[in-house]
Amino acid sequence: MRSKLFVAFLLVIALALLSNLMFGHRIMKDFAAYEKGTREDHIYWIIASVESGYSHGGWNMRSLESSLRWAAMLRFDCRVEDLSGRTVMSSAQAVNLLGEAMRIRMQIVQPESKGAPPYENYPLFHMGNQIGTLAIRDITAPADSPLRKKEHIFKQRGRQFLITSFVIAGGGALFLAVVLSQFLSRPVRELKRAAETLAGGDLSVRLRGTGADEIGKLKAAFNAMAEALQREDSLRKRLTSNVAHELRTPLAVMKARIEAMMDGVIEADRAGLESLQAELDSLTRLIGSMEDLTKAEAGFLKKSPPEKVLLREFLEGIVTGMEPLFMDKGLKLEIAGGQELPVFTEPEKLEKVLKNVIKNAANHTMEGGVLLKYGFEGAMFYVEVKDTGKGMAPDELGRIFDRFYKGKDSKGFGLGLAIARELIEVMGGSITAQSRPGTGSVFRIVLPRGKER
Ligand SMILES: Nc1ncnc2c1ncn2[C@@H]1O[C@H](COP(=O)(O)OP(=O)(O)O)[C@@H](O)[C@H]1O
Ligand SMILES: [Mg+2]
Repeated sequence: MRSKLFVAFLLVIALALLSNLMFGHRIMKDFAAYEKGTREDHIYWIIASVESGYSHGGWNMRSLESSLRWAAMLRFDCRVEDLSGRTVMSSAQAVNLLGEAMRIRMQIVQPESKGAPPYENYPLFHMGNQIGTLAIRDITAPADSPLRKKEHIFKQRGRQFLITSFVIAGGGALFLAVVLSQFLSRPVRELKRAAETLAGGDLSVRLRGTGADEIGKLKAAFNAMAEALQREDSLRKRLTSNVAHELRTPLAVMKARIEAMMDGVIEADRAGLESLQAELDSLTRLIGSMEDLTKAEAGFLKKSPPEKVLLREFLEGIVTGMEPLFMDKGLKLEIAGGQELPVFTEPEKLEKVLKNVIKNAANHTMEGGVLLKYGFEGAMFYVEVKDTGKGMAPDELGRIFDRFYKGKDSKGFGLGLAIARELIEVMGGSITAQSRPGTGSVFRIVLPRGKER
């Protein structure tokens, strides 16, 4: 990652350099073109000015003088020749005709004798007839003349500007490349290390700096994952020890019975075998509950599509199935309200949950009975199971949904409500309990009303 970032930054620098060079080249070229264009304009003006100094078949010397002086000031060395090739006036002469002070000032634009370029010749016209020739060439001012210096300084400044801007841009980019590649890749390296620690089995590793930016969110997600893993891990450990504990008791009982039978302490008759079978049944039920729990957990991955369920009819079916259990104990099992409510849900899961909760209520109720209530609540529907049983103290109430939690007088494994909560959560709902010792308990299941698919 770091090296990739670095390469990316180097690429940026290279692009900056390239564009810099390209623009530098363009600017210099444009400047040369501009200079050339200006020079051509100047020559044209001089020609026009000189031509206007000719009238009535002769040269107006004053006008010519000022034209050629302008030529000199525009940095041209020139002379006007008539048709026979005789020099009428040269720019040098025009300058020399100036006063002393002006002449000294104009010296700076005097032609340099050595290395001067050849003259270019332009024909001069008056009313369509050639009247002479203008021989003109650039004044190559000496290298140390202020003019040359100015020009030199201008070009130098241009180059300096390009170089400085490149150094600043390139240097800045390089600096940023180093700093940013370090800065950006640090949290990634941190994450990598943490992931390795996690993979190594240390589930307590957490990352700091879970800010609002992407990296911060990634860190938060990592922490959440580590937390979930740790929770799962401790749950698994507890589960294993709970299962071992639940298995040990009936197995120990069976072992003792069988040994006693073999030793002839108790008789290996039908009653003895039946008690062994009861222990085996209990073990089978435990395995069944464990399977339910595992299935419910796997349901997280596989959520079956909701089916249309008529709530009243559905609850009546459950009541019919469970009535014998209540009648045996002289308890009532009733449904409040007669309204039919259609919902879309997973009936198998809901039935399993309700049977678990209703059975609990029957187990813990001595007189009175159980009342089922149902209804809509916004986008949700609820089913309440209210009993007139012994109720629960707050500290017990807080633990009843834990796996393997069971009350002192329970004959089960303490898995029923754990399974119920797992299933309800898979269905996107919630199950809660309210209770007061001596008064009874209310279990409330809330689920989405759902939509037809
Ligand atoms: N309706 C209820 N009234 C009183 N206590 C209850 C009721 N339902 C559940 N409990 C308590 O919650 C515990 C856990 O219930 P559950 O998970 O179904 O396990 P189990 O029924 O196997 O004991 C029970 O052992 C009991 O102590
Ligand atoms: Mg139970």
